[in-house]
Amino acid sequence: MNDALMGGLFPPARAGLRGSVRPPGDKSVSHRAVLMGSVNDGPVIVTGFLRSTDTMATVAAVRALGVQVDDHGDRLLVHGAGWEGLQEPDDVIDVGNSGTLLRLLPGLLAPRDFLCVLTGDASIRRRPMGRVLEPLAAMGVEVAGRCGDSLPPVVVRGGALRGIEYRMPVASAQVKSAILLAGLRAEGQTSVVEPAASRDHTERMIRYGGGRAERDGPVDGPGVVKVWPLERLKMDGLTVPGDFSSAAFFLVAALLIPGSDISVENVGLNPTRTGLLAVIERMGGQITVEREDVCGPEPVGTVTARWSELEATDVDADEVPGLIDELPLFLLAAARADGISRLRGAAELRAKESDRLEAMATLLRTLDIRVTEYPDGMDVEGDPQGWAGGEVETRADHRLAMVGAVAGAASRHGVRVDDLRSLNVSYPGFVEALVGLGGEMAAPGSGSRGVGR
Ligand code: S3P
Repeated sequence: MNDALMGGLFPPARAGLRGSVRPPGDKSVSHRAVLMGSVNDGPVIVTGFLRSTDTMATVAAVRALGVQVDDHGDRLLVHGAGWEGLQEPDDVIDVGNSGTLLRLLPGLLAPRDFLCVLTGDASIRRRPMGRVLEPLAAMGVEVAGRCGDSLPPVVVRGGALRGIEYRMPVASAQVKSAILLAGLRAEGQTSVVEPAASRDHTERMIRYGGGRAERDGPVDGPGVVKVWPLERLKMDGLTVPGDFSSAAFFLVAALLIPGSDISVENVGLNPTRTGLLAVIERMGGQITVEREDVCGPEPVGTVTARWSELEATDVDADEVPGLIDELPLFLLAAARADGISRLRGAAELRAKESDRLEAMATLLRTLDIRVTEYPDGMDVEGDPQGWAGGEVETRADHRLAMVGAVAGAASRHGVRVDDLRSLNVSYPGFVEALVGLGGEMAAPGSGSRGVGR
C-alpha cells in the first residue's frame, strides 16, 4: 500500500490510454467472504481477496472475535467455526473507514449474546447507523449509539432473534445485508422490502453456502428479499471477482480521452452492480461486454471501452443503486457530453465517505463545468470540448481521488489531487495501473509541469 503517497498532478494523457488491466478484488465481495467465512462450517479458502485498508479492517475484526485467518496475500484461509465460533472481543472494534464492515458486522453478531462496540475514523463517525440498529432492535438485539442511537460508536448485544418484515426507506445493500445475516439465525422468515434493487452479493453467498435467499420483483425496480433460518453455512471456497467499481475509472477514462481503448479483464459482472454500462450505452459510449464465467457465486467477464462522443442522459431513483459508487464517474462523463444530464433520487450520495454530491459539484465547477445542485441530485451542462484543469480536494474519499485522476488524464493541462492516501481504501495499485495504460502522475515537487488554464 502507498503510505508515502500524498498529493499528485495528473497531466493529460495526450496519446490516449491503451491496453488491458485486471482490477483488484471486489471490495464488497471481499468483506462478505471474510465475514461469512468466519461463521462457515469449517475453513474457507478465499482467492482474489482485495488487500486494502477497508478489507484488512474486516480481517482484523473477525480475528478480534476469535476467528483465525491465515494471510497469504490475495489468498486467505478463514477458519470458520459456525456462529458459536464468534467470541466476545476484549476491546472496541475499529472499522477504520469501512461503512460495509460497520453495517454488516452487527447483523453477523446479532445472534451472539455478548457485547460489541464498533467505531471508526472521523468519516465513519458521521455515517448514519439508525437504519441498521432499528431493524436489528426489532429482531431482538440490544442496540445503542451516539446521538439517539443514530451514529457510531455503536454498541450491540445480540441474543434470541425473531424474523421480521422490514420496509427499507432507502435502497441500501449494507442495511439489507445486516438484516439478512441476522435473519439466518432468526425464528421464522425474514423479509426486506427494498424500494429499488440493491447489490445482491450477500444473497448469492447465502445460496452458495446452502442457504435459502430469494427475491421477488424486477431487477430494475422494487422487490422483497427473503431469507430463512440456516443451521450451517457450508461454502467450499470463494473466488472474488475483480471490482467493477475500480474498473469503472478506466472505462470512463477510455470514453473521455481521444485515442483510448481499454479492456478490463476478470471483472465482476453482477447485474446489480453494472448499472453504469446501460447509462454509458444510452450516452452513445462504445463499450463491449464479454461474459466469460461464473466466479463462485458471481459472474465475471471482460469489458472494453473506447473513446466516444457522448450525449447527455438522465439517471433517476430506480437506476441509482445499480451504479451508486459510479455516480461520481457518471457526473464526470456528463461534463463531457452534449446537452444537460440530470441525476435525481441520489440523496444517498451525501451519506458516503464524503458528501459526494457536494464534492462533485465543487469538482466540476473547478473544471468550469456548469452544474446545478439539488438535495437529491444534480444537473450537469456538458461541454464536449472538455476542460482545462484545476485542483481537486478529495476529503479523504478514495473515489473522489480517482475521479480527480481521470479528470486530469482527460484534461488539457492537468488536475492536481490534494491527497492520494485514500486510494488504499479500495485500489492501492491505482496509480501504477494508470501509468501501465499510458497515463502519468507527478508527485509534488517532482515535475515542472504546471496546472493552468
Ligand atoms: C456496499 C453497498 C453500497 C456501496 C458501498 C458498498 C456493500 O452502500 O455504496 O460502497 O458492500 O454492500 P449502500 O448499500 O449503503 O448504498
